[in-house]
Amino acid sequence: METDHYITYSEEETIELGKKFAEMLKPGDIIAIEGSLGSGKTEFIKGICKFFEVQEIVTSPTFTIINQYTGKFGDEVLSIYHIDLYRIKAKNEFEEIGLLDCLADDRAIKVVEWADKANGIFPDNIYRVKITSSNVNENERIFEIQMPLQA
Ligand SMILES: Nc1ncnc2c1ncn2[C@@H]1O[C@H](COP(=O)(O)OP(=O)(O)OP(=O)(O)O)[C@@H](O)[C@H]1O
Ligand SMILES: [Mg+2]
Repeated sequence: METDHYITYSEEETIELGKKFAEMLKPGDIIAIEGSLGSGKTEFIKGICKFFEVQEIVTSPTFTIINQYTGKFGDEVLSIYHIDLYRIKAKNEFEEIGLLDCLADDRAIKVVEWADKANGIFPDNIYRVKITSSNVNENERIFEIQMPLQA
């Protein structure tokens, strides 16, 4: 699989990167994001939502676990599910929170924070984004973006 690397130095640059990344997305895609607390997962997702012209405020659904936004894909209405698995403790909660149904919605785009908690439930062929902070500059973030095979 092809992996691209990017570095950002501010929240704004991360939003721009998410917006640029979103150009290659289509309905049905899953984007699994890994990265520690405050690494910029939500900022990156804000950029994706900006590209699809989402009007709602994009925030980590830490308590609600799944947020649904409405965007546009060309002339069509597009649903974007923003999933945050931070509070999930065990895999048997996936059914309960509606994650499996949500992932199966092939007309929607699904972006997942703390995706490492759900490894094994995603199809193999998805986008994977790994964010790491630099120990040199506090605002530097390194993005490793893995594309699915037939993106
Ligand atoms: N290069 C950067 N990219 C993104 N955010 C940055 C960057 N530099 C500093 N920041 C700051 O880091 C924070 C990132 O917050 P964000 O909510 O996106 O993180 P998160 O990974 O979603 O965290 P959580 O796991 O708590 O949901 C923001 O406060 C932002 O201003
Ligand atoms: Mg977040």
